[in-house]
Amino acid sequence: MRKKITVVGAGNVGATLAQRLAERGDADVVLVDIVEGLPQGKALDLLEAGPVLGYDSRVVGTNGYEETGGSDICVITSGVPRKPGMTRDDLVLTNMKIVRGVTEELVRRSPQAILIVVSNPLDAMAQLAFSVSRFPRERVIGMAGVLDTARFRTFIAQELQVAVGDVQAYVLGGHGDTMVPLARMCTVAGIPITKLLPPDRVDAIVERTRDGGAEIVNLLKTGSAYYAPSAAVAQMIDAILLDRKQILPCAVHLQGEYGINGLFVGVPVKLGARGAEEVVQLELTPDEQAAVRRSAESVKELLAVMAL
Ligand code: NAI
Ligand code: 2OP
Repeated sequence: MRKKITVVGAGNVGATLAQRLAERGDADVVLVDIVEGLPQGKALDLLEAGPVLGYDSRVVGTNGYEETGGSDICVITSGVPRKPGMTRDDLVLTNMKIVRGVTEELVRRSPQAILIVVSNPLDAMAQLAFSVSRFPRERVIGMAGVLDTARFRTFIAQELQVAVGDVQAYVLGGHGDTMVPLARMCTVAGIPITKLLPPDRVDAIVERTRDGGAEIVNLLKTGSAYYAPSAAVAQMIDAILLDRKQILPCAVHLQGEYGINGLFVGVPVKLGARGAEEVVQLELTPDEQAAVRRSAESVKELLAVMAL
C-alpha cells in the first residue's frame, strides 16, 4: 500500500512540499489548513497536474483531521512566518498554540506516525510536539539543519565556483542566530575549505549562512523562504520512506549526546524507516562544542517563555 503523508499548513512551505511529494509519486498526501477552501483548492490543483506530469498520487485537501488518520508521516508547517525585522523567536507565542493543537489532532488519529516539525521557532516547536505527542524521540524530528546546511553549501559552491554536490558541510545547533556552521569540517571533494579560502571569506560565508533566513525575508518582504525549506523536508521524507539510513542534520531530543540533555538541538542524525534512528557524535573541538552548547542554551530560554 502507498504511504500516507499529512502536511498541516497549506501555505508556502506546506503547499510546495505537497507539490514535491505528489510529483515524487510514492505517497498519498493529505493537506490540512484552517482557511476554508485553501487546502481543497491547492489539493485539487495538484491532482489535476498529475495527468500532465504523469503521477497518480492521491492529494486531498481538508479543514479537518478525519482524512489524516493512519498517516505514516505528519509534517507540521502551520503557523505564522516572520516579517522583516522579526526574529524566529518573535513567533513563539502565536505558533505554540497552533503547534500544540495540531499535534494533539494528529497523534490522536496517527499514533504510529513520524512527526516532522517545520514551524518556527523550530527547536522549541519540535520540543513542544515531542512533549504533547509523548512519542518516542525517534519519531519527532525538527527540520532546520538540512536547510541551513544547504545554504552553507550553496554559498561555498558560489564562492569557489564548484559543483554544489561536491560540497559537504554541517550546520549544527539551534535554528537561529546561534546556529553553528562547522567550517572546519566543510570539504570540497574531500579538501577542507579552510585550505581553499582565506579565513575572512570563510567567516563571511558562515555569517551569511546564519542570516540566510533573514536575507530571504528581507527580499520577499511578505513571507519567508519556502523552496529550499520544502526541498529539505522532502529529502528527510525520502530518507525515511526509503529507509536510506542517510545522515542529515536534524533537530532531535538530545539525551546526553554532545553534553546536552532534554533539549531539541540540531545534530547529525541517521534517518531511516524508524525515523531518527541514531544520533551521530562528531568529534568537536572545545570551541565548537561550546558553540553548540551556547546554542542549546538559547533554545532553553525559549522553552522557559513557553513554560515548557
Ligand atoms: P504561510 O503563512 O505561507 O503558511 C502557514 C499556513 O498555516 C497558513 O496557510 C495558515 O492558514 C496555516 N495555519 C495557521 N494556523 C493553522 C492551524 N491551526 N491549523 C492548520 N493550519 C494553520 O507560512 P510558511 O511560509 O508556509 O511557513 C510556515 C511556518 O514554517 C512558519 O512558522 C515559518 O517560520 C516556518 N518555517 C520554518 C523553516 C525551518 O527551517 N524550520 C523554514 C521555513 C519556514
Ligand atoms: C528560514 O530559515 C524561515 O526559518 C526559516 O528561512
